Amino acid sequence: MLNKDSSTHTRGESVYLDDVPLLQGTLFGAAFASSIAHGHITSLCLDEAGQMPGVVKIFTWKDIPGDNQIGGIVPDEPLLASHGVDFCGMPIAFVVAETDSAARAALKKIRVEIDPLPVITDPREAQARGALIVPPRQFVLGDTTTAWNECSHVFSGKADTNGQEHLYIETQGAYAIPQENEGLKIYSSTQSPRATQTASCRVTGLPMHQIEVEVTRLGGGFGGKEDQANAWAALCALAAFQLKKPIKYCLHRMEDMAMTGKRHPYSADFKIGLDAQYNILAYEVVFYQNAGAAADLSPAVLERTLFHCTNTYYIPNVKATGYSCRTHLPPNTAFRGFGGPQGMFVIESAIAWAAEQLGIDKTIIQKANLNKTGDLFPYGQKAVSEAQVCWNKTERLYDTASWQAAVQTFNRSNLLYKKGLAWMPICFGISFTNTMMNQARALVHVYADGSVSISTGAVEMGQGVNTKMVQVAAQVFSIRPQRIRVQSTSTHRIANTSPSAASATADLNGKATLMACTAILERLREVAADQFGATTGNIRLQDEVVCVNGERTDWNWHKLVSAAFGKRVNLSEHAHYATPEIFFDKTKEKGHPFAYHVYGTSVTVVTLDCLRGTYEFDAVKIVHDFGASMNPAIDRGQIEGGLVQGMGWMTMEEIVYDAQGRLRSNTLSNYKVPDIYSVPREILIHPLQTDTDNAAIFRSKAVGEPPLMYGIGAFFAIRDAIRAFNPAALVPFDAPLTPEKTLMALYGKNKKEGADKLKASAQVSL
Ligand code: MTE
Ligand code: HPA
Ligand code: MOS
Repeated sequence: MLNKDSSTHTRGESVYLDDVPLLQGTLFGAAFASSIAHGHITSLCLDEAGQMPGVVKIFTWKDIPGDNQIGGIVPDEPLLASHGVDFCGMPIAFVVAETDSAARAALKKIRVEIDPLPVITDPREAQARGALIVPPRQFVLGDTTTAWNECSHVFSGKADTNGQEHLYIETQGAYAIPQENEGLKIYSSTQSPRATQTASCRVTGLPMHQIEVEVTRLGGGFGGKEDQANAWAALCALAAFQLKKPIKYCLHRMEDMAMTGKRHPYSADFKIGLDAQYNILAYEVVFYQNAGAAADLSPAVLERTLFHCTNTYYIPNVKATGYSCRTHLPPNTAFRGFGGPQGMFVIESAIAWAAEQLGIDKTIIQKANLNKTGDLFPYGQKAVSEAQVCWNKTERLYDTASWQAAVQTFNRSNLLYKKGLAWMPICFGISFTNTMMNQARALVHVYADGSVSISTGAVEMGQGVNTKMVQVAAQVFSIRPQRIRVQSTSTHRIANTSPSAASATADLNGKATLMACTAILERLREVAADQFGATTGNIRLQDEVVCVNGERTDWNWHKLVSAAFGKRVNLSEHAHYATPEIFFDKTKEKGHPFAYHVYGTSVTVVTLDCLRGTYEFDAVKIVHDFGASMNPAIDRGQIEGGLVQGMGWMTMEEIVYDAQGRLRSNTLSNYKVPDIYSVPREILIHPLQTDTDNAAIFRSKAVGEPPLMYGIGAFFAIRDAIRAFNPAALVPFDAPLTPEKTLMALYGKNKKEGADKLKASAQVSL
């Protein structure tokens, strides 16, 4: 089925937050943010700003009737700074004015004096000073201490990844409208209506039933609106609650970039041990997560880093430690992969480093250690593995041996251009790592005219979840998708939602929808059975026609529904789904946290311009484990998008904060994201239909996040090309590998060997 949003998207008719028609009397908000990363507020003068034309009121923490607190996991994040500031971009005041421009003009007239305090931007430094968000976590399997003795080879090193700007096309924003009896309705661009509702309740002091959060759709979230849509909604709620006027605030791009957190940068130390056959026997890793100034989702992100620290490899002895380090940066947050990519980069670095020291191809170690069904992950869950299937299929389907040979031939005969090739197998666990969050609800109405309405907790953000919900209902009822409408996401219709995140949205909400539709269908079949003197077991709906014992009758869907309505049969259902069998015991750091894992393998080939340090990707070829895709077009789109987003993180997207904690990469002219020219020339995706039973909706495995990790292959492909040019080059495991860093690596260290190699190859090729 075509993505149901495609026609309104292409016509510009899809409704986002900023398209919600404004009520008369709507006022506009704008946040005044700290330009100092750490310090005491000694004075705040709002007089001049307050007298600016059109300004209605300027809110500070003193105007908050409830708690000045929006922290989700840890209550450590004030909505508005009171006595001190902890990061550049921290909101201090909220101006409300008659127009958007009046509010922003007033921001310039606010005077604040801040006594600066020392600024920490480096997570290792924060850890050394004991500045942790939560106590450290440690996952242990086997015993690394004794295992080192059995290793023939042991290598250690350091691997770092930088952050990433979400760059959703639609910036953050909210629109709060007062309702009767003190209630509020908030339109928000949020992945988590419940979290947005909760934060707004906390700040206003209202109970949850007084605040409705409604979401039409998002122009992208990518994790950036899982927790960080809340502040803007809470600010609007605060002002709407106090002024009894509708309040709207949509952030400008630069405000959004400066005030919101990003993917967590990580620094890590690793130690890897192998036996003579290159089996990895032991792996130790310590992660220093740069959490920023408040917890936000950092503890959960760190947990997923630990879950994915061995990627898709079976390693019998593992010790993985994670520190969530408090720095003076905007609180970092969820971003596609949720800490998993950061963990996987480190094990890939460790393998690359080991291979380099051993003088063998990295793939030898990768392939030798792919997990098998029954192997234990460090957290105690047994793998149901497709790793080897995906790898072997990749070899055969894309004839990688010839491809590899062609790369070598190219490199032998080219002087200034070198190609690099890298394999990237992935394995990603599906479920919120916090078991409690794996629940969802759906409310399905079949109207008397035969049209169907679905409400779930799912938020459409471009990933196509609404289309999948339509598919579920259409399949259960066997009716045309045109009869089915997915409603906006509202906390009044569906309560206590989990965020649309963890790639699990279609699974969780789809299963709830499936349950609701199935319950209604059962009642409809009883009506038909009654009519035709049959048992319900012999009634089927097929292409909108009621069939008895496989024979078509003259009753269609519409007739059946009206008959049921006439007989006072309940045509509505509210269903609740909770993922079965999953659990996790944090005291032991063991359990079965994931409903299932998604596997896949990619091969990336890059061509490097060794004079300039620039590169182009020839191709990325993928075999991806879909289970049984319920919408191949949407899923393919998710893979292409995730891949390119991951490649951007690994190659060109470079977040820069200066030592004072100020964001330097604060515009789209100095923060580069992949564009049409930087995507691979060829992306091939083979949808591997895997037969193992899984807990996904219609066995269609979650696809939102896993493909991002194919992007890690880009880093190692470039690295491979650099070393083809200069075998002695020392290329740090420090992503992103921008053209600048690439150029440094090509010529920086061991220049002499590089130059000699250049001469030697010149003699061959010229
Ligand atoms: N695709 C689009 N177009 N826009 C998005 O914001 N978010 C990603 C992924 N794909 C995103 C996207 C992230 S971070 C997640 S967790 C999943 O979609 C969430 O949706 P799902 O659970 O339905 O896969
Ligand atoms: N993944 C994504 N988002 C989340 C998770 C998770 O495991 N836990 C809480 N939010
Ligand atoms: Mo995605 S990072 O789980 O929103």
